[in-house]
Amino acid sequence: MTKRVAIFLSGGGSNMRALAQSMVGDHPARPCVIVSNQPDAGGIAWAKEQGLSTLVVDHKPFKGDRAAFEAEIQTHLEAHAPDIICLAGFMRVLTPAFVRPWAGRMLNIHPSLLPKYPGLHTHARALEAGDIQHGCTVHEVTEVLDDGPILGQAKLQIGGTATSDALAARVLKLEHQLYPQVLRRFAAGDRTPVMIQDTQD
Ligand code: GAR
Repeated sequence: MTKRVAIFLSGGGSNMRALAQSMVGDHPARPCVIVSNQPDAGGIAWAKEQGLSTLVVDHKPFKGDRAAFEAEIQTHLEAHAPDIICLAGFMRVLTPAFVRPWAGRMLNIHPSLLPKYPGLHTHARALEAGDIQHGCTVHEVTEVLDDGPILGQAKLQIGGTATSDALAARVLKLEHQLYPQVLRRFAAGDRTPVMIQDTQD
């Protein structure tokens, strides 16, 4: 049966677009709702243009009450009956109470080769460390931030990429390849990790 996918974002949503655009034809899943904590997120405007359902729950009025913010999302999410949640640049940390019921059904993309560099500023940290390789990871979401079984990684050679902005742009291109490939497999019930090497290397 076709899987229903909720995609969560906070910004431009380029990963969400790559995912949504990939779910066509014989793909085993379809997007059911695009969720954001940012009312003015570019990704929400795009989703509306495409005729996709959207759900915006602004975190700011909840003043740090994560449980209440998440309860509001959960209440409205149920109407869309998702089978899978894809976090795609969703910049709020979700509490264990939200994550637990979705165990094994929630994915995240992170801009580093996990377990290296969980958290923020991953590109600058890879450059500062003098790493030769960098990239991105799609993993199952567990109660630990940027942790959980790895479902795919895309790698590049840092080479002469001198700035973290330039590195971020290279990694983002790889993210757009990796996440749709992982989701396709995952939705078909296959958790074999997808491994990609940047063709520019
Ligand atoms: C992506 O690089 C994604 O990996 C990162 O945010 C960006 C969102 O871009 N996610 C995280 O850092 C999560 N910890 P997008 O809105 O264009 O998809």
